Amino acid sequence: MESARRIIVALDVETADEARSVVRELKDEVGAFKVGLQLFTVAGPEFVREIAADHRIFLDLKFHDIPHTVAKAGIEAARLGVWMFNMHAMGGSEMMQTAVNEVGEVCDKEGFDRPLIIGVTILTSSDANTLRQIGIETGIATQVSRLAQLAKGSGLDGVVASPMEVAAIRATTGGSEFLVVTPGVRPEFATVDDQKRVMAPREALLEGADYLVIGRPILNAPDRSLALRRIYEEIDTAR
Ligand code: C5P
Repeated sequence: MESARRIIVALDVETADEARSVVRELKDEVGAFKVGLQLFTVAGPEFVREIAADHRIFLDLKFHDIPHTVAKAGIEAARLGVWMFNMHAMGGSEMMQTAVNEVGEVCDKEGFDRPLIIGVTILTSSDANTLRQIGIETGIATQVSRLAQLAKGSGLDGVVASPMEVAAIRATTGGSEFLVVTPGVRPEFATVDDQKRVMAPREALLEGADYLVIGRPILNAPDRSLALRRIYEEIDTAR
């Protein structure tokens, strides 16, 4: 896959208009745009439908609820025309399997492609201390691998994880078909913000990540297009 298709730009902005302007500015240079909780809460499903008509959208709402509710939410995400959406793997296999099956059935019946369904493992802003606070004593890498295996066994297409765990995920899930999407990516010119387990883009790809989710290093740059070009330069030195 060419490097330009591997970057997913997080549209973490305050208004639909600001998001539209980021899309206009970067549409020819990225693989997809990510709509997360902030933008979805302000701009809603109509905005997602509008952008998804012309661009690949990763709907990052991290569903985590009873199986029925997650499946129904997934069906609506598919009807909006998104390319990818996600749910917390910590919701367990029944939740993930029900969603995969029910979304698949509706997509077949209504005649559109099923979106890629991705499991969130452990957020890149979490560290071992965060896990201990909620009673998880195993290390991050072990917990991420376990959740990735569970997601794969439940029929999901891949997981979201820190670049630091990509190698462990590849080792436990086997093969390269299972997608690994990595936020927590910081180009050399950017600050770390609240992300704790970060890696540079070229290293993340060398580890075996399929897609890199990047927000603030691009959004906050004085020239977003230039920031993106600098990231591609960093990536291309990986070849
Ligand atoms: O600005 P930054 O590059 O840190 O943005 C990362 C994006 O990836 C945010 O939209 C955040 O919600 C998302 N994300 C994350 N960690 C995950 C899953 C998604 O940081 N495990």
